[in-house]
Amino acid sequence: MSNYQSIVEKNKETYLQELIDLLKFPSISADPAYKVDVMSCAQFVSDKMNALGLDKVEIISTKGYPVVYGEKIIDPSKPTILAYGHYDVQPADPIELWTSPPFEPVIKDGKIFARGSADDKGQFYMHFKALEILLSENKLNCNVKCIIEGEEEIGSEHLEEFVNTYKDKLKADCIVISDTSMISNEHPSITTGLRGLAYMEVEVTGPNRDLHSGVYGGAVGNPINTLCKMIASLQDENGTITIPHFYDKILEVSAEERAAMSKAPFDMTEYKKHLDIDEVFGEKEYSVLERVSIRPTLDVNGIWGGYIGEGAKTVLPSKAFAKISMRLVPNQDYNEISKLFEAHFKSIAPKYVKVKVTPHHGGEPAVTPTESNAYKAAEKAVEITYGKTPIPLRTGGSIPIVTMFKRVLGIDTVLLGFGLDTDAIHSPNEHYHVWNYLKGIETLCCFYEEMGR
Ligand code: BES
Ligand code: MN
Ligand code: MN
Repeated sequence: MSNYQSIVEKNKETYLQELIDLLKFPSISADPAYKVDVMSCAQFVSDKMNALGLDKVEIISTKGYPVVYGEKIIDPSKPTILAYGHYDVQPADPIELWTSPPFEPVIKDGKIFARGSADDKGQFYMHFKALEILLSENKLNCNVKCIIEGEEEIGSEHLEEFVNTYKDKLKADCIVISDTSMISNEHPSITTGLRGLAYMEVEVTGPNRDLHSGVYGGAVGNPINTLCKMIASLQDENGTITIPHFYDKILEVSAEERAAMSKAPFDMTEYKKHLDIDEVFGEKEYSVLERVSIRPTLDVNGIWGGYIGEGAKTVLPSKAFAKISMRLVPNQDYNEISKLFEAHFKSIAPKYVKVKVTPHHGGEPAVTPTESNAYKAAEKAVEITYGKTPIPLRTGGSIPIVTMFKRVLGIDTVLLGFGLDTDAIHSPNEHYHVWNYLKGIETLCCFYEEMGR
């Protein structure tokens, strides 16, 4: 057993208890009702930074929720690593589908169940424990700066301004983020690309008030029927998006990279079984792993309108609504895609309805280098602790600040995450495997050690 492994093993109860305490804060950034909890969570994070031995710990205000900062400067001539994470979490609903309350963490079958356990509290906290180990063992041989933000799940709206204001303070050689997943514990991987995001809300209005569906139905266009038809027309049978010019700017992935991707293990039977679906969906020309990583998508996230109460009410509603997101790939620009969507959506609306389109937050796609020192250190660290070379792989989620960091600070990121796609992040019963949490701490010890060489 390696030295780090035995330290982690010896302290695992403490490490788990501290994570459980962190997970008790309902730090839901999307819902203003939790403002006090988000702020107390920031305080807890800063207390833990102090406790592990970071210097200049500070809760830095922004126009939104604060960023918690801490650093350890060992020797200015050594490389500096900027570790990023987020202490905010997604809302917990639908709450009735949780088998234990989302903010009362429990460990069951080797998994910690709680909102935020994998996304991202359990993941950024591994850095705190790794740094604590390195400091106590006198093994930290590089400089470290930590920023843990509180608005990632709502689009990191104020982070760019923060980064611009504190450009000097944030100077670093590389950024490390643990907020992604691996293929599996048997097939470790490092994320090398993330999709961007354009998020729209649409409102379709028919008549100026709800009508009796018998008296008016047949002569007045129903906005819900209309919205459904409009949405259905946005994709063809193959899943290809029909918005004109949607694919124009996409940077095609090279045959080499696609060939490398096709080597990543993927078990179709297991995939379908896990989701209880009989068949997968999407573009026939691309594999499932490609469909969820190097191809853009369009999905309805929510749709509502009319009567949804008990029993039947015969009504021809006045309005229908939907939230629609598009995952984007390099070089799609979310402002441009939002405009294309809006123009197209208005153009397909029949004359008997009016359409309003409101864009929500968006985000840039990212591709991270595999030639950097940081990637090599991450690769080496995984080799040491997993005994296998990690597979570089693009995945489908979004962390828009990766490209923002590159644009504003000029720094590349390595996405060294330890989650699994099955962790149910953003879903009921989100969990993080205890094994991954402990393995992550050990691997991050090796990562920081490699960076100091
Ligand atoms: N950690 C996730 C992103 C993620 C998850 C990337 C799993 C890769 C694998 C992050 O917290 C997240 O949820 N991002 C949002 C985007 C944001 C703009 C709200 C997303 O992907 O929906
Ligand atoms: Mn996250
Ligand atoms: Mn998330």
